[in-house]
Amino acid sequence: MGGLHKGHAELIKVANQTSLGESKRVLVSVFINPLQFGPKEDFESYPRTLNNDCNLAQKNGADAIWAPSVNEIFPNGINSHFSIKVPKHLTTHLCGSCRPGHFDGVASVIVRLLSLVKPKLLILGEKDWQQLVIIRHLIDDLGLPIHIKGVPTIRDKHGLALSSRNSYLKANEKETALHLPRLLKESAKDVKNGLFLNKEKLSSKLEKYGLKVEYIETVDPYQLQPMKEGKQLCMLAVALKCGETRLIDHTFLMTHQPIVAIDGPAGAGKSTVTREFARRLGLLYLDTGAMYRAVTWIIQEKNIELNDDDAIQINLNNLDIKFEVSPNGPQTVWVNGQDVSNIIRSQSITKLVSKVACKPIVREYLTTMQRRMGEDGGIVAEGRDIGTAVFPHAELKIFLTASASERAKRRSIDLKQRGLPVPSLKDLESQITERDNLDSSRDIAPLKKAEDAIEIITDGMNIEAVITKMLNLFHSHIPEEVWPTTY
Ligand code: DC
Repeated sequence: MGGLHKGHAELIKVANQTSLGESKRVLVSVFINPLQFGPKEDFESYPRTLNNDCNLAQKNGADAIWAPSVNEIFPNGINSHFSIKVPKHLTTHLCGSCRPGHFDGVASVIVRLLSLVKPKLLILGEKDWQQLVIIRHLIDDLGLPIHIKGVPTIRDKHGLALSSRNSYLKANEKETALHLPRLLKESAKDVKNGLFLNKEKLSSKLEKYGLKVEYIETVDPYQLQPMKEGKQLCMLAVALKCGETRLIDHTFLMTHQPIVAIDGPAGAGKSTVTREFARRLGLLYLDTGAMYRAVTWIIQEKNIELNDDDAIQINLNNLDIKFEVSPNGPQTVWVNGQDVSNIIRSQSITKLVSKVACKPIVREYLTTMQRRMGEDGGIVAEGRDIGTAVFPHAELKIFLTASASERAKRRSIDLKQRGLPVPSLKDLESQITERDNLDSSRDIAPLKKAEDAIEIITDGMNIEAVITKMLNLFHSHIPEEVWPTTY
């Protein structure tokens, strides 16, 4: 909306750093959108500093600045165009609850701007997190071919989140306003150290400094629904008045690094995309299927009967099983000093593994091991029961699937690449269906989409498209501020 400052400069810089091919152009739009101001709000007085905006945009590498008039965007008047209604659940909390119609106005204009410009990439600040979430949902729901990227909040040297509206603050109010970021930071630190958040206490501290609290809420950063701080990443958001100036700010409350759970049936391409997804985010990659395969291998090696629980338990107790988790490649699996990474992919293991994975003693042993490996977070774990049983508090759960025929084709290519014997597509498809049935019908931790998992059906999608979709989902759940993109 103009009144550009260092926060906007950062968006322009990020746009310049993002590789989009040779024809990339960075466009800055400046449009003070009448639809997003309430009747008593500051539409008339909102900072209009177009000359400065042009200078700042140019200095930071923008190719063009586009500042259309209201008439250009709404040639027939602001009420004669289609408007967007944001789903209720995204606006019942935070600013949506105290600024009725505000986000409908934002969404209506954004759709109009996007359809005129048709950008490949849209860059927005994470400072207005609710706005960013709503625009992500909007782009996703309308199927617009636009990638969206958030940029962490830029603050001044005292910690105050930059905002065009900060120019309204009088000299003495600037000091007072600093209590907001300070107390948010303190709250995040307390939660990290295991203390509970007391919102009433936070509110009275802010009020004591003369700040008039509009809301203090803790919400899930993706669905924007109230949640208690605890095991999952949670956003603590505050809106208040400092004198006549309305300020918003937030922090993320977390006790560990993020965990991503990727589940789905055999052959859905999980390993390939998950490994690359983890690499691009600098997260550890854990292929739990390889663990079940390793245990299957030892059972087969030692000729243990599948119903001989005592012998299996003894072997599990004495098993020296090591998973060399590497951020860059497939994990190496060592069993009793032997590298079994390749052999565990053989047809004979593949045929037996689901039967081994049904066994409660095996599941208990491996689940405990997986939880230990993910204790501090910073991990992407892939399997069948990660979101439902191993890490039910994962910040992001994805259920990757594809039709059985598509999966058979992929498995065939994979086996060929590994130099292993390749059965016919028909045989592969029936093996896959049989494994699906076994995995989904077992009593303990069956293959099942977690209630809060997001399903991606990958038929017709290439690897890059799936990874892009997963990265978008990651950053709509876990802000750049918490886990920046490293690719
Ligand atoms: O993903 P994969 O094909 O390598 O997995 C091998 C088998 O291991 C699969 O048929 C089911 C089982 N498995 C499981 O039960 N739970 C997991 N978390 C991962 C795999």
